[in-house]
Amino acid sequence: MYSDIINIRYAKYSDIAAITDIYNYSIRHEISTFEEVEISVDEMKARYEEVVIKEKHPYIVATTRGKDGEIVIGYCYLLRYRARSGYRYTSTDSIYIHHEHRGKRVGSLLLERIIEIAKEMNYYNMIGVASGGNDVSIKLHKRFGFRFLCSMENVGLKFNQWINTDYFQLNFQLTQ
Ligand SMILES: CC(C)(COP(=O)(O)OP(=O)(O)OC[C@H]1O[C@@H](n2cnc3c(N)ncnc32)[C@H](O)[C@@H]1OP(=O)(O)O)[C@@H](O)C(=O)NCCC(=O)NCCS
Repeated sequence: MYSDIINIRYAKYSDIAAITDIYNYSIRHEISTFEEVEISVDEMKARYEEVVIKEKHPYIVATTRGKDGEIVIGYCYLLRYRARSGYRYTSTDSIYIHHEHRGKRVGSLLLERIIEIAKEMNYYNMIGVASGGNDVSIKLHKRFGFRFLCSMENVGLKFNQWINTDYFQLNFQLTQ
Protein backbone atom coordinates (compact mmCIF):
# COMPACT_ATOMS: atom_id res chain seq x y z
CA MET A 1 0.00 0.00 0.00
CA TYR A 2 1.27 3.51 -0.88
CA SER A 3 0.92 4.82 2.67
CA ASP A 4 3.32 2.08 3.87
CA ILE A 5 6.22 3.98 2.35
CA ILE A 6 5.25 7.36 3.78
CA ASN A 7 7.10 8.63 6.82
CA ILE A 8 5.63 11.36 9.03
CA ARG A 9 8.15 13.35 11.07
CA TYR A 10 8.81 16.81 12.42
CA ALA A 11 10.00 19.29 9.79
CA LYS A 12 13.55 20.62 9.78
CA TYR A 13 15.32 23.51 8.09
CA SER A 14 16.49 21.35 5.17
CA ASP A 15 12.81 20.67 4.27
CA ILE A 16 11.93 24.32 3.77
CA ALA A 17 12.82 24.56 0.06
CA ALA A 18 10.53 21.61 -0.73
CA ILE A 19 7.77 23.04 1.48
CA THR A 20 8.08 26.35 -0.39
CA ASP A 21 7.67 24.58 -3.75
CA ILE A 22 4.57 22.74 -2.54
CA TYR A 23 2.97 25.93 -1.26
CA ASN A 24 3.93 28.03 -4.29
CA TYR A 25 2.14 25.55 -6.55
CA SER A 26 -1.05 26.24 -4.58
CA ILE A 27 -0.46 29.99 -4.80
CA ARG A 28 -0.07 29.78 -8.57
CA HIS A 29 -2.88 27.37 -9.39
CA GLU A 30 -5.43 27.12 -6.60
CA ILE A 31 -7.83 28.95 -4.35
CA SER A 32 -6.85 26.75 -1.38
CA THR A 33 -4.75 29.73 -0.33
CA PHE A 34 -5.78 33.35 -0.82
CA GLU A 35 -2.13 34.33 -1.21
CA GLU A 36 -1.49 35.50 -4.80
CA VAL A 37 2.25 36.10 -5.12
CA GLU A 38 4.75 33.25 -4.73
CA ILE A 39 6.92 33.41 -1.63
CA SER A 40 10.67 32.91 -1.27
CA VAL A 41 12.40 30.17 0.70
CA ASP A 42 13.55 32.84 3.17
CA GLU A 43 9.96 33.97 3.71
CA MET A 44 8.87 30.35 4.27
CA LYS A 45 11.76 29.92 6.72
CA ALA A 46 10.50 32.97 8.65
CA ARG A 47 6.97 31.47 8.72
CA TYR A 48 8.33 28.09 9.85
CA GLU A 49 10.23 29.80 12.68
CA GLU A 50 7.09 31.70 13.64
CA VAL A 51 5.26 28.39 14.14
CA VAL A 52 8.05 26.33 15.68
CA ILE A 53 10.20 28.82 17.60
CA LYS A 54 7.90 31.74 18.42
CA GLU A 55 4.63 29.86 18.91
CA LYS A 56 6.23 26.51 19.93
CA HIS A 57 3.77 24.59 17.80
CA PRO A 58 4.23 21.43 15.70
CA TYR A 59 5.23 21.49 12.04
CA ILE A 60 5.34 18.07 10.42
CA VAL A 61 6.14 16.68 6.98
CA ALA A 62 5.33 13.56 5.01
CA THR A 63 8.26 12.05 3.16
CA THR A 64 8.83 9.20 0.78
CA ARG A 65 11.78 7.75 -1.06
CA GLY A 66 12.66 9.41 -4.36
CA LYS A 67 15.37 8.26 -6.74
CA ASP A 68 17.92 10.46 -4.95
CA GLY A 69 16.76 9.74 -1.41
CA GLU A 70 14.10 11.18 0.89
CA ILE A 71 11.67 13.72 -0.61
CA VAL A 72 9.10 15.88 1.15
CA ILE A 73 5.63 15.39 -0.37
CA GLY A 74 3.43 17.22 2.11
CA TYR A 75 3.39 19.30 5.25
CA CYS A 76 1.04 20.28 8.00
CA TYR A 77 1.28 22.60 10.97
CA LEU A 78 -0.82 23.55 13.93
CA LEU A 79 -1.33 26.96 15.49
CA ARG A 80 -3.58 28.49 18.08
CA TYR A 81 -6.74 29.57 16.22
CA ARG A 82 -6.35 33.16 17.37
CA ALA A 83 -3.73 34.91 19.47
CA ARG A 84 -5.94 36.33 22.25
CA SER A 85 -5.46 34.34 25.45
CA GLY A 86 -9.07 33.21 25.66
CA TYR A 87 -8.56 31.17 22.49
CA ARG A 88 -5.82 29.07 24.13
CA TYR A 89 -7.76 25.80 23.89
CA THR A 90 -8.63 26.20 20.19
CA SER A 91 -6.18 25.29 17.44
CA THR A 92 -6.23 25.36 13.65
CA ASP A 93 -4.42 23.27 11.07
CA SER A 94 -2.90 24.03 7.70
CA ILE A 95 -2.08 21.24 5.27
CA TYR A 96 -0.65 21.04 1.76
CA ILE A 97 0.31 18.01 -0.31
CA HIS A 98 2.53 18.07 -3.40
CA HIS A 99 0.19 18.06 -6.40
CA GLU A 100 1.64 14.81 -7.79
CA HIS A 101 1.04 12.97 -4.50
CA ARG A 102 -2.55 13.86 -3.73
CA GLY A 103 -5.38 11.38 -3.29
CA LYS A 104 -3.04 8.76 -1.82
CA ARG A 105 -3.82 9.24 1.86
CA VAL A 106 -0.80 11.47 2.54
CA GLY A 107 -3.10 14.25 3.79
CA SER A 108 -4.94 11.77 5.99
CA LEU A 109 -1.69 10.57 7.58
CA LEU A 110 -0.58 14.13 8.30
CA LEU A 111 -3.93 15.25 9.68
CA GLU A 112 -4.19 12.13 11.86
CA ARG A 113 -0.79 12.89 13.37
CA ILE A 114 -1.43 16.60 13.91
CA ILE A 115 -4.72 15.74 15.67
CA GLU A 116 -2.84 13.36 17.99
CA ILE A 117 -0.33 16.11 18.77
CA ALA A 118 -3.11 18.67 19.34
CA LYS A 119 -4.66 16.31 21.89
CA GLU A 120 -1.28 15.83 23.58
CA MET A 121 -1.00 19.64 23.75
CA ASN A 122 -4.30 19.65 25.61
CA TYR A 123 -6.24 21.49 22.93
CA TYR A 124 -10.01 21.26 23.22
CA ASN A 125 -10.94 22.23 19.65
CA MET A 126 -9.46 22.27 16.18
CA ILE A 127 -10.84 24.53 13.45
CA GLY A 128 -10.43 23.59 9.79
CA VAL A 129 -10.93 26.19 7.09
CA ALA A 130 -11.59 25.17 3.47
CA SER A 131 -11.98 27.73 0.73
CA GLY A 132 -14.03 27.67 -2.44
CA GLY A 133 -15.97 24.50 -1.68
CA ASN A 134 -12.70 22.51 -1.61
CA ASP A 135 -14.32 19.06 -1.69
CA VAL A 136 -11.15 17.12 -0.94
CA SER A 137 -10.23 19.26 2.06
CA ILE A 138 -13.83 18.97 3.29
CA LYS A 139 -13.77 15.17 2.90
CA LEU A 140 -10.41 14.99 4.61
CA HIS A 141 -11.56 16.94 7.64
CA LYS A 142 -14.91 15.13 7.87
CA ARG A 143 -13.08 11.81 7.79
CA PHE A 144 -11.51 12.76 11.14
CA GLY A 145 -14.77 13.89 12.73
CA PHE A 146 -14.80 17.59 11.92
CA ARG A 147 -18.36 18.89 11.53
CA PHE A 148 -19.41 21.71 9.27
CA LEU A 149 -20.10 24.99 11.09
CA CYS A 150 -20.73 27.74 8.55
CA SER A 151 -19.70 29.39 5.34
CA MET A 152 -18.47 32.93 4.99
CA GLU A 153 -19.52 34.19 1.60
CA ASN A 154 -17.29 35.99 -0.91
CA VAL A 155 -14.58 36.79 1.62
CA GLY A 156 -11.75 36.05 -0.84
CA LEU A 157 -11.00 37.31 -4.33
CA LYS A 158 -8.54 35.35 -6.46
CA PHE A 159 -8.31 34.64 -10.20
CA ASN A 160 -11.10 37.20 -10.66
CA GLN A 161 -13.61 35.21 -8.66
CA TRP A 162 -15.19 35.71 -5.29
CA ILE A 163 -14.56 32.79 -2.95
CA ASN A 164 -16.34 31.45 0.13
CA THR A 165 -14.62 29.91 3.15
CA ASP A 166 -16.15 26.95 4.99
CA TYR A 167 -15.44 26.41 8.67
CA PHE A 168 -15.25 23.00 10.35
CA GLN A 169 -14.74 22.10 13.99
CA LEU A 170 -13.41 19.08 15.79
CA ASN A 171 -14.17 19.09 19.49
CA PHE A 172 -12.00 16.53 21.26
CA GLN A 173 -14.38 16.03 24.18
CA LEU A 174 -17.22 15.16 21.79
CA THR A 175 -15.13 12.75 19.71
CA GLN A 176 -13.45 10.73 22.47
C1 LIG B 1 -6.71 18.76 0.59
C2 LIG B 1 -5.46 17.88 0.67
C3 LIG B 1 -4.61 18.32 1.84
C4 LIG B 1 -5.91 16.42 0.88
O1 LIG B 1 -4.80 15.58 0.97
P1 LIG B 1 -4.75 14.22 0.11
O2 LIG B 1 -3.55 13.47 0.47
O3 LIG B 1 -4.93 14.58 -1.32
O4 LIG B 1 -6.09 13.50 0.66
P2 LIG B 1 -6.31 11.96 1.02
O5 LIG B 1 -5.78 11.08 -0.07
O6 LIG B 1 -5.81 11.70 2.40
O7 LIG B 1 -7.90 11.88 0.97
C5 LIG B 1 -8.73 12.56 1.89
C6 LIG B 1 -10.18 12.37 1.46
O8 LIG B 1 -10.42 13.04 0.22
C7 LIG B 1 -10.83 12.11 -0.80
N1 LIG B 1 -10.18 12.51 -2.04
C8 LIG B 1 -8.84 12.61 -2.25
N2 LIG B 1 -8.62 13.06 -3.50
C9 LIG B 1 -9.83 13.24 -4.08
C10 LIG B 1 -10.26 13.71 -5.36
N3 LIG B 1 -9.39 14.09 -6.28
N4 LIG B 1 -11.59 13.80 -5.59
C11 LIG B 1 -12.48 13.43 -4.66
N5 LIG B 1 -12.13 12.99 -3.41
C12 LIG B 1 -10.83 12.89 -3.14
C13 LIG B 1 -10.35 10.76 -0.32
O9 LIG B 1 -11.13 9.72 -0.84
C14 LIG B 1 -10.54 10.93 1.17
O10 LIG B 1 -11.91 10.82 1.53
P3 LIG B 1 -12.49 9.54 2.28
O11 LIG B 1 -11.67 9.39 3.51
O12 LIG B 1 -13.90 9.92 2.54
O13 LIG B 1 -12.29 8.41 1.31
C15 LIG B 1 -4.63 17.93 -0.66
O14 LIG B 1 -5.42 17.50 -1.72
C16 LIG B 1 -4.07 19.31 -0.96
O15 LIG B 1 -2.94 19.60 -0.57
N6 LIG B 1 -4.85 20.18 -1.64
C17 LIG B 1 -4.40 21.54 -1.96
C18 LIG B 1 -4.20 22.38 -0.71
C19 LIG B 1 -5.42 22.38 0.17
O16 LIG B 1 -6.54 22.42 -0.30
N7 LIG B 1 -5.18 22.35 1.48
C20 LIG B 1 -6.25 22.37 2.46
C21 LIG B 1 -6.58 23.72 2.89
S1 LIG B 1 -5.51 24.37 4.14
